Amino acid sequence: MLVIGAGGAGLYAALTAAREGASVILVAATPLAETASYWAQGGLAAALAADDSPDIHRADTEAAGRGAVRRSAANVLVREAPHAVDDLERLGVRFDADRRGRMALSLEGGHTRRRVAHAGGSATGRRVVRQLSAVVAEDPRITILEPARAAAIWTSDGRCVGAVLEDGRAIQARATILSTGGAAAMWARTTNPPGSLGIGMLLAHAAGAALADLEFVQFHPTAVTGIPGREGFLVTEAIRGEGATLHDATGERFVEELAPRDEVSRAVHAKMREQGTASVELDMRSVDMAKFPNVVGALRESGLDPATTRIPVAPAAHYVMGGIVADLDGATTIPGLYAVGESSCTGLHGANRLASNSLSECFVWGRRAALAGLKEVQPTAVPSAPPAAAPILRPSRATQEALWVDAGIERTREGLERLLDDPHPLARLVARCALLREETRGSHRRRDFPELDPALDGRHAIVRGELDPVAEPWS
Ligand code: SIN
Repeated sequence: MLVIGAGGAGLYAALTAAREGASVILVAATPLAETASYWAQGGLAAALAADDSPDIHRADTEAAGRGAVRRSAANVLVREAPHAVDDLERLGVRFDADRRGRMALSLEGGHTRRRVAHAGGSATGRRVVRQLSAVVAEDPRITILEPARAAAIWTSDGRCVGAVLEDGRAIQARATILSTGGAAAMWARTTNPPGSLGIGMLLAHAAGAALADLEFVQFHPTAVTGIPGREGFLVTEAIRGEGATLHDATGERFVEELAPRDEVSRAVHAKMREQGTASVELDMRSVDMAKFPNVVGALRESGLDPATTRIPVAPAAHYVMGGIVADLDGATTIPGLYAVGESSCTGLHGANRLASNSLSECFVWGRRAALAGLKEVQPTAVPSAPPAAAPILRPSRATQEALWVDAGIERTREGLERLLDDPHPLARLVARCALLREETRGSHRRRDFPELDPALDGRHAIVRGELDPVAEPWS
């Protein structure tokens, strides 16, 4: 099996396959610390508390997703996330515990229960990825190619038979799993590591796979701004879960801080525009600083002491709900090719991801895709010659600015049509999906279509090749 990408989803997919006895090649483009999973501050959302249940978790996921969550995907996540947490513990991840030694669960926006398992306070991604990497490194069935990047998907007779790396090496596999992360670093202002450029999405698209929902881009409301060296640094929502508040230029609170993220980001954006400011302020002085050592440490290193000072924050692109169309096993529209984690789109997140569902998704779908991939039959025919490695496409600063302006928190037809001429193919794909969706829903706000259109409930914008995108119902 070939796994491309070594964040949380890729590491776990590789481990799952190896535990079943398979030989795995894991392609890792960047050092661990540059994967988006490593940066994840939230945690794993899972119905673990006594007052919680998978059904309540699903209802919160659907409410946040604004009528666009695929119910079958939400059901998979909410039922399997608790097992993923258990298994990570078995693999050596130590989640934070409360004073009685029970798992400490935090509260984030849109959750009606305490449901987020975390490690090291807000260092969850780092702790999980480090531990899984250590386990992977010890597993003799997993060969790690690092640093290495996929530069083309290899197809033969309509099925994926492997991938070609940037250096021209062709790797054949009965199943190939893309776990290459998201694309939020395509936007000028982002919380993501610089490599989150949708590279797997573009490889899959070039190979003929369908993509979906690229108009749904989540903007996190509390990314640091105006502090040199810390632009876009995320201040986790869990801090608002512990009582931090948001204030405008007059010191007034103006939003329910734990509303779903689309609502909070939009309120922050509107307030900044109304008051002509570049930020609002996050007051975390009442929060126990010891619970968030990495956030507090980073702010202090930048000369801001959150115990005494309010922190200037503004929205930044954080998560792309869209990606490579994938089913409940992560199978894409190309047989033999799977996609998991942020590179995929199962419809789980709808128009606005519920906080911390994505890390859970990495493990739930990482496992499912690995198990499904193991059932693929090795093609007996000699495959056609591998394709040439395509150069990795990086956006120019102008493309990043254009996405921020024209496909940011508010969009218009005029701006989106401008983006159709952008030199970067992912910018054009985002514009094509966003033009199709003539409504406002979740993270996608059209100034020219300010209302939600109930006729588009449950419909997803699908793009295949150069064909016009279509709105398909998913159940
Ligand atoms: C956060 O900690 O605020 C981000 C978590 C997430 O994006 O799910």
